Amino acid sequence: MNYAVVIPAAGQGRRMQAAVNKAFLTLQGRPIIAHTLAVFQADPRCERIVLVASENELDEMQALAEEAGATKADRVVAGGSERQDSVRAGAAQVMDAPLLLVHDGARPFVAIERIHALLLEAEQSGAALLAVPATDTIKQVDQEGRVKQTLKRSELWAAQTPQAFRPEVLQQAYAYADETGFQGTDDVSLVEAAGGEVAVVEGDYDNIKLTTPEDMTLAEAILAKRAGEAGT
Ligand code: CTP
Ligand code: MG
Repeated sequence: MNYAVVIPAAGQGRRMQAAVNKAFLTLQGRPIIAHTLAVFQADPRCERIVLVASENELDEMQALAEEAGATKADRVVAGGSERQDSVRAGAAQVMDAPLLLVHDGARPFVAIERIHALLLEAEQSGAALLAVPATDTIKQVDQEGRVKQTLKRSELWAAQTPQAFRPEVLQQAYAYADETGFQGTDDVSLVEAAGGEVAVVEGDYDNIKLTTPEDMTLAEAILAKRAGEAGT
């Protein structure tokens, strides 16, 4: 099934500690967001890209999308103060798509095979996400800095994007969020909160979100590895 993707890039990138929104930082000479756009531009099953930018970066983001040849990103929309607000503004543009994906602008390394596996699952389940098994042991810690409990690692997965939805499932989740004021840190959590089922599709560890300066070093290493694999 074909899909439309919403790409939120309207954050401030505070943890990256750069002078600009991290979406504009470059990897091998191209802005992070251009790398991300290229993945979906190249996927024949992606019908449309809705890029979400902050109000004061709309023109810059539009120009960048054009320069990157991202013809599917024909509309850049203004985001909001929280990620959930930004995604919602973007999703409103494409609720008529057969399937809807949400993918972080700051996650440029998602593999097309994983996207297609996710689509298949979302078609069946209504909502699905890519995730990887947790590698660290995760502790729940109280306000005083004391461990409350150690969570069972074999049951823990780190959520990634894309997260995929049948549009009516996302619509219902938004209705629930409106009623209750629920705020999630990812998109499928709205479906979970509304009592819906969410399926997990195993992703890969290269699909990192560029969050801190150290991630930029890791990103260059991932690109170098790929260039090596491609024999260039
Ligand atoms: N995002 C958005 N609108 C917001 C907040 C975040 O569109 N109000 C986007 C970011 O641009 C990013 C993605 O959501 O592509 C994932 O968020 P995150 O990694 O937290 O990015 P930032 O919020 O920009 O970074 P930070 O939290 O460090 O400030
Ligand atoms: Mg953030």
